[in-house]
Formats: sequence, structure tokens, C-alpha cells
Amino acid sequence: MQHHDLIVIGAGPGGYVAALRAAQLGLNVACVEKESRLGGTCLRVGCIPSKALLESSELYSEARHGLAGHGIVAGAVTLDLAAMLARKDGIVDQLTRGIAGLLKKGGITRYEGLGRLAGAGRVDVVAADGGVTPLSAVHVLIATGSTSATLPGIELDPERVCTSTEALAWPSVPGHLVVIGAGAIGLELGSVWCRLGAKVTVLEYLERILPANDAEIAKDAQRVLAKQGLSFKLGVKVTGARATSDGALIEIEGHEPLRCDRVLVAVGRRPNTAGLALEQLGIALDPKGRIPVDAHYRTQASGVYAIGDVIPGPMLAHKAEDEGVACVEHIVTGYGHVNYDTIPNIVYTHPEVAGVGKTEEELVAAGVPYRKGAFPFLANGLAKALGSTQGKVKILAHRDTDRILGVHILGPRAGDLIAEAVVAMEFGASSEDLARTCHAHPTLAECVKEAALAVDGRALHI
Ligand code: NAI
Repeated sequence: MQHHDLIVIGAGPGGYVAALRAAQLGLNVACVEKESRLGGTCLRVGCIPSKALLESSELYSEARHGLAGHGIVAGAVTLDLAAMLARKDGIVDQLTRGIAGLLKKGGITRYEGLGRLAGAGRVDVVAADGGVTPLSAVHVLIATGSTSATLPGIELDPERVCTSTEALAWPSVPGHLVVIGAGAIGLELGSVWCRLGAKVTVLEYLERILPANDAEIAKDAQRVLAKQGLSFKLGVKVTGARATSDGALIEIEGHEPLRCDRVLVAVGRRPNTAGLALEQLGIALDPKGRIPVDAHYRTQASGVYAIGDVIPGPMLAHKAEDEGVACVEHIVTGYGHVNYDTIPNIVYTHPEVAGVGKTEEELVAAGVPYRKGAFPFLANGLAKALGSTQGKVKILAHRDTDRILGVHILGPRAGDLIAEAVVAMEFGASSEDLARTCHAHPTLAECVKEAALAVDGRALHI
């Protein structure tokens, strides 16, 4: 039986990064993955392919509607969807191969199959043909990620009532697409198909979109996305959806059923724990189906750890990566830490939505006194030159100490701009620190500086 210091189950961003770091730290590491391609949901059917399609569809939309404003006259712009999808697949292929290369370079042994706990310090790898390879290890790390959740009454159908996985590969543009759920997935993929020509209706149970984001920024985002053609129905509870002979039918509580061509179900994700045989080692799930862990990612079973989407917290690739690193660093060195107050989130609509730290609602609910500064991209020179002036930067700082508590952005490249706020918060910066930091001109980042000045009522360009 092969023995390893650490067996990582799952080669998504949490698992493969943990494996790489553990190998750097000198452990003999194995990584068990059921898919032939490494990288997990993020790489194969999540973050990366969606970003590829977001970029392509945005270029298509720009070519159709945006170039004339720059004085560029292009002939008839047409869509070659097959080529667009092939480009996306090519990017995914390259990156998954890259991860296989990284694991090889790190000396990590890869096993293809389903990882299953088989007693203390034991993992069985069950191959697609049913063959079992027994392994032993000092430490086992579960990083099996999550799968699209669905709702009671929804009958998934590979053609008509789909999850994000299928919606990344539809071979034709739906006439009318209904998206259930106005979270990151619903808005990103809703934007893709809207830009490519679909009529898109987003149904959301809550009275707002993007429930995890700052409400003011989410409201601004809704206005901008509605202008782009996404139609929102808020406060509606979907109770069923199914394929029909020529499309799909959606049932909504208290409303007439809705007919459309395709449905995207984007109502969250659920942890992947089935088949791990957690009960073998006495690991019980919490009421949301997640694996409970302590501050060092230790489960109820000695020597078994868990990170990423299978444990509580936001289901984000970078959160999983940081947990993977912290977990194995703690195993090897006795130290390892994730600062959950500074985990950014980004929604890749156009413009992007990004945030870190507390939302304004959270500060109000907690009774924390704060000051707020905001600055619009409309007043920024580079944003004007780019032709992307929608949105703003909003900074929330403690009223008495001026420490930055939250930064929320709707605007061009918000996902890159938020990095400055994350670093500032990681170093415990005040809004004054940001305001006194030299920002190059002309850049979008000047909006961050101006918002910091605005906290003290002294923004200069508005
Ligand atoms: P989500 O939890 O962010 O949003 C789901 C939405 O569906 C919520 O607004 C919820 O109120 C709504 N909903 C639930 N039941 C409903 C019903 N019966 N009728 C109508 N609406 C209903 O989930 P989403 O967008 O599926 O994303 C899953 C996870 O993946 C999230 O944790 C998200 O942060 C992550 N993700 C992150 C991305 C990024 O970082 N750019 C991109 C895509 C996903």
C-alpha cells in the first residue's frame, strides 16, 4: 500500500494549492481527483470558462454598440458562437494542463478516482471501472468543493432547465432565457447570453439582487444591468420548473407560470460530501451539509482536515486557496491563518462589482459608528477616456479611529481595484492612509483615493 504524509482529496483551487504548498514544505503529497482534468469547478466549469465567455461576449457587444462612439466603423458584426465556445474550451484545456504540470513539478503523486475515507489514516481511491487503490497517510485533507444546488419542484433537464455547467456550453443563443437567482452566477451568465442576443429575465426571491454585497452598490448595479437589457423580477418565489416539448415552464408562487426557451438555475451551491464515507470516521455534517472544522481546519476525526466549499464561509476559489495554504502550513509549522475580514468578492458583470469587509447594512446592524466616502467614476479622467463611467467607489471607515471597515465598488475593473483596499485593510489602514498615498494619474485607482478623501469630506474632483 502506498503511504503519503498528506493525501488531498480534490484538485480544485483549494486542493491543488494545498498540495503544492505542502510539497514545498517537504511533505510527500498525493492528490486524488475523480475528473481526468485538474482544477476543479473553478477551472473546468466555473470561474475560468465564465470569464472567457464574459470577455468574448463583451467584445461582441462593444463591436455592435460601442465602437461607433470611438469613431470606428465596422461592417456587419456577426456571431460565431462555436468559435467563441472553442476559444473558452482552449483556455480551460491550457490551464488544466498547466496544473497537471505544476503537480508533477512539485513531485505530487496524482491518483485518478473517487477518494473515500477507509478508516484512520486510510483512503481508498475508487476508479471509474470500480477498481480500488488503498492508500495510507498521516494527514488527509478534504477539498471536494461544491455542486450547483437546485430547488424542490425544479426538474433539471440537460437542454432546457440547466445549471451553470450546461449554460457555459449552450450551442445556440436562447430566444428567451429565464435565470432563477440574482447572485453572481445568475448575473454573470445572464449577462453573457443577454449580450449574445437573448432576452433575459432574472427571477429573484429577495427584494434585491446580489444578497451578499453592499445594498447601495447592488441597487446601482441593478440599474446599470437593467439598462443593458436584463429584466429583473424581485420578490418572486420560484416553486417549479420543467422542460416542455418546445421550451420550459416556470412556476412562481402567486403568479402565472412563465414560458421560455431555456432556464438557468443559479440558486446557490451545495457542498460535495457524498461518497466520502465521512461517517466511517464519525464526522457529522452541520444542518447545511457542511463539514464542521476548528480554526485549523481539523474535523471531528483526528488527522482529517477540510477546506473550501465543503466547510462554512463564502464559496470562493481564493478563500479555498488561502485555507488550503493555512491548513498545511499549520500542519507542518504550527502556524497558519486566514483573515476572514479581508476576503474580497467580485462579480464579473460589466461594469464589475467588488467588495471587501463590512457592508453598510452590517455596520448599521452591529451599531458600529462609521463615516462614508464615495466617488463616482463619472468624475474620473481615465474612466471617461475608456468610455466606462458607471458606478462608484464607496469606503466605510470607523467614525472614531478612521480604520477602513469596508470598501465596495461598482465600476470598470472593480475586481482589480479592490486589491488595493484589501491590502490597506490587511495592514489596518485608515481612510487617511489611503487618501495620502500617491496614486498615479490618470488611473481608475484615483477613484479609490478620492473616495478615501471623501470620507473626510475633502474629495477634490467633485
Ligand atoms: P448565490 O447564493 O450567490 O445567489 C443565489 C440567489 O438565488 C440568491 O439571491 C437567492 O435569494 C436566490 N434564490 C434562492 N431560492 C430562490 C427561489 N426559489 N426563487 C428565486 N430566487 C431564489 O448563488 P449563485 O449565484 O448560484 O453562486 C453560488 C456560489 O458561487 C456563491 O457562493 C457565489 O459567491 C459563488 N460564485 C462566485 C463567483 C465570483 O466570485 N465571481 C461567480 C460565480 C459563483
